[in-house]
Amino acid sequence: MIDFRDVDQAKPYKLFKELYKIAVLENQKNVEAISISTFNSEKSEVDSRFVNIKLLKGAEFIFFSNYKSPKSEAFKLHPQITALFYWSAIDVQIRIKAKIKKTPASFNDEYFKKRSKHKNALAISSNQSQFVQSYEDVVNKYNEVLETENLLKCPNFWGGFAFTPYYFEFWKGHESRINKRDVYQLNGTNWDHKIIQP
Ligand SMILES: Cc1cc2nc3c(=O)[nH]c(=O)nc-3n(C[C@H](O)[C@H](O)[C@H](O)COP(=O)(O)O)c2cc1C
Repeated sequence: MIDFRDVDQAKPYKLFKELYKIAVLENQKNVEAISISTFNSEKSEVDSRFVNIKLLKGAEFIFFSNYKSPKSEAFKLHPQITALFYWSAIDVQIRIKAKIKKTPASFNDEYFKKRSKHKNALAISSNQSQFVQSYEDVVNKYNEVLETENLLKCPNFWGGFAFTPYYFEFWKGHESRINKRDVYQLNGTNWDHKIIQP
């Protein structure tokens, strides 16, 4: 579930919150899951993966990950992403284009302390996306960390990413196939609203 904190009052954020509530009422599974697409300019490669949004704080969507992972490398090289929610229970897609950055170390430290020790053991033990000899090695390393490490201390290679949208597209499926698409685009400090064709 997403934790909403002092959410921006602009129209697209209000709409996001309203749709999120309806999706939860309709029992949407993985309602916080979002696909994040990146561009790695060194490899000239686009990539995507799901993450879980944990917080919407002001105008920032926040998730947590490994700072040495491939996605983190891509954010460094090209700090712009495109992200997608799809809530099948209400047939809504939300497309977001945004600028992304790391959250402050003090924020990561606080957040880490409040997580379960099992989650933290995995965060500490995993060199995310690096090759390993076997799955057994992954499990052994996890168990070793669980026994021996301080599980309240956030490692410097783990933390949050916050992305701030400059573009939202709300796509609402319609049984007639005449689907509705509302675009909100940031223009200075204002959000311009347009309808686009299905
Ligand atoms: C529903 C779902 C939620 C996920 N949430 C996260 C997350 O919050 N943070 C994370 O690092 N990986 C998460 N993952 C795993 C990522 O999709 C991905 O495998 C991992 O972050 C490595 O990505 P990278 O190699 O592109 O850096 C999630 C996967 C799924 C299917």
